[in-house]
Amino acid sequence: MSVITTRREGEVLVVTSNNPPVNALGQAVRAGLADAMAEAAGDDAIQAVVICCEGRTFFAGADITEFGKPPVGPSLPEVIDAIEASAKPVVAAIHGTALGGGLEVALGCHYRIAVASARLGLPEVKLGILPGAGGTQRLPRVVGVAEALPMIVTGNPIPAAQAGKIGLVDKLVAEDGLAESGVAFARSVIGKADHPVSSKRTDKIGEIPSDSDFFDEFRKTQMRRLKGFEAPEACIEAVKAAIDLPYEEGVKKERELFGKLVTGTQSKALRHVFFAERAAAKIDGIPADTPVLPVKKVGILGAGTMGGGIAMNFLTAGYAVTILEREQEALDRGVSIIRKNYERSAAKGRFTADQVERAMGLLTPTLDMNDLADCDLVIEAVFENMDVKKDVFRKLDGIVKPGAILASNTSYLNVDEMAAETKRPGSVLGLHFFSPANVMRLLEIVRAAKTEPAVLKTAMDLAKKIGKVAVVSGVCFGFIGNRMLSPRQRAAQAMLLQGAKPWDVDKALTDFGMPMGPFQMSDLAGLDLGWDKANSKSETIRDVLCERDRRGQKTGKGFYDYDENRRPSPSKEVEAIIDEFAAKSGLEQRVFSQDEIRERLLFPMINEGAKILEEGMAQRASDIDTVWINGYGWPAYTGGPMFWADTIGLDKVVAGLKAHAAASGAEPDICKLLEDKAAKGETFN
Ligand code: COA
Ligand code: NAD
Repeated sequence: MSVITTRREGEVLVVTSNNPPVNALGQAVRAGLADAMAEAAGDDAIQAVVICCEGRTFFAGADITEFGKPPVGPSLPEVIDAIEASAKPVVAAIHGTALGGGLEVALGCHYRIAVASARLGLPEVKLGILPGAGGTQRLPRVVGVAEALPMIVTGNPIPAAQAGKIGLVDKLVAEDGLAESGVAFARSVIGKADHPVSSKRTDKIGEIPSDSDFFDEFRKTQMRRLKGFEAPEACIEAVKAAIDLPYEEGVKKERELFGKLVTGTQSKALRHVFFAERAAAKIDGIPADTPVLPVKKVGILGAGTMGGGIAMNFLTAGYAVTILEREQEALDRGVSIIRKNYERSAAKGRFTADQVERAMGLLTPTLDMNDLADCDLVIEAVFENMDVKKDVFRKLDGIVKPGAILASNTSYLNVDEMAAETKRPGSVLGLHFFSPANVMRLLEIVRAAKTEPAVLKTAMDLAKKIGKVAVVSGVCFGFIGNRMLSPRQRAAQAMLLQGAKPWDVDKALTDFGMPMGPFQMSDLAGLDLGWDKANSKSETIRDVLCERDRRGQKTGKGFYDYDENRRPSPSKEVEAIIDEFAAKSGLEQRVFSQDEIRERLLFPMINEGAKILEEGMAQRASDIDTVWINGYGWPAYTGGPMFWADTIGLDKVVAGLKAHAAASGAEPDICKLLEDKAAKGETFN
């Protein structure tokens, strides 16, 4: 059956797209729409047209899989121009998400109606491009520059109600019977003298001149998010073109900017990220008919840093949560931090007071493990100590109902060993959240040796429900993310002994686009994590720093000195300590370029990533990219560590690793998979 069908409702032609899963505007859809417009034009009996979609959504955008391939006509701009040029009014009837090319189609229509649950947006910027079918020119003309700019530059969609307020949607209609509402609306406009044509409107465009402060102010508010990305600036340029140029010239400018971006590395990387996140949700070796187990009630052990954050994820998503601590004081503290976090979010407008109370109302604090008996899932976030974890798993197994899932939030420890303490190893797995757990998007789902398919699938399903990006990892020390952190940390330490300063090392990574470097990260986490005060003998730089109470941000100083606003500055004391260790090491002191520092930090991570792949601890290279982008702030516009390695060439990575090892007088420990791929000229992705 054709993806586009038409039917007559009296004098109205109803054009329906049926291209699952998201009605992407692939070639067949575009051709079908063009044919439908020709049908409407060629038949005097037709007075108006309604465009709507079957399935879960209105057109959710251009077909991303067609990017980078030779274009096959008709192009989307041609189709939209044909819609707009129709002498008979065209109504877009929107449900689900009208995104990207989908919203551009709607903007080409003369009228837009939507159900209240619909969302509308131009998310192209997130793929490293900009709307390339007139969106940057039509949207400002329809809603004004002040409303259009954030939509185009951030890519965040807006709800239908807001779209109604700003004039993007003409009418909100009932959720049911959307096509009928479309027909009724179309009938109501038949016979009007003229119909609004987005590209011809000028009434809203003159409100903000292109040289006004508005654009700089906007940049300032978005600076942190925009840093390093090329597309947002191009979006701003396109919107300015909408202000300064006639429509026909503006779309030319848009096309030109689009063409540059779509062939660039950032856009390739961001498209990779889009598909990588979706691929990560697919679990190898699980039959398609594997059931998802019902989860209604969640238990959390430990109301510390992680337990509280993990609880918030489930509370916000509407799950009943019982949280367990050992002592009343710790329990009270944990619960009050949860409340404070919610209230802080509410103050920023992210929750209403009602939502806060609803979430807190779902929380049951307890000191009695028996209260977890009827939970469907229990996640432990107690101390990172195997004996403590084993004890907890043994006890939980005896108390929590049979069939319930038992999970560990361990950062490094062996989940198989914990599972072995229970009589239900098939129901045990790792759910590794990242700090702050209510904010960070990543969830590593640790697949233990005996974890059953239904348990894994349930975890993946839950991850989606609580808004996480989940990646499956095998059992290994530190799983995917933290495991790759270790070689980077070693490389950073090694460079300190050869003459690099912590701030030089950190700068190489922040310039690359990471939120912080290894020493800033140590200061944030606390240098005394795992440090043994009683037995500390000034053997490492870290020992000495901790002994001098330079334990990181919490003591006001670590590798850096911090002022009262937690602003860091390089420390003379630390420099002297490092110099002393460097002298003792007998290693040659030299100056490192920023390029070399970056390579010495990141190439070993790629090597470790390759080992993780080789051992089957990650299902695919793109999963490793997903982990690092969502859990550690690796810049998405490079595509993640493995994609970045592909773009610079694996042979260059191998050569770099060998050179770095030689410079340190060490044997290179290069993963065979990486070496083989490099030799064959292959890539990871
Ligand atoms: N082109 C091609 N495929 C697309 C697509 C697009 N524009 N949008 C989604 N898909 C695919 C996904 O890859 C996924 O495929 P898979 O099942 O084989 O993994 C499938 O459609 C479902 O997408 P998913 O994101 O898992 O569904 P969802 O219901 O969670 O979200 C959307 C739906 C539309 C909100 C989301 O897919 C989205 O944001 N899409 C991109 C929109 C966009 O950027 N449009 C502008 C393009 S220029
Ligand atoms: P934390 O010290 O802040 O919290 C642990 C809490 O568990 C404490 O409040 C403690 O009283 C409680 N607890 C200990 N034993 C208990 C028991 N038997 N029953 C009930 N409560 C008990 O530690 P955290 O940072 O939240 O870490 C918890 C786990 O999460 C560890 O395994 C850690 O490796 C992991 N993790 C931590 C981070 C992080 O950045 N902090 C990130 C990911 C994972």
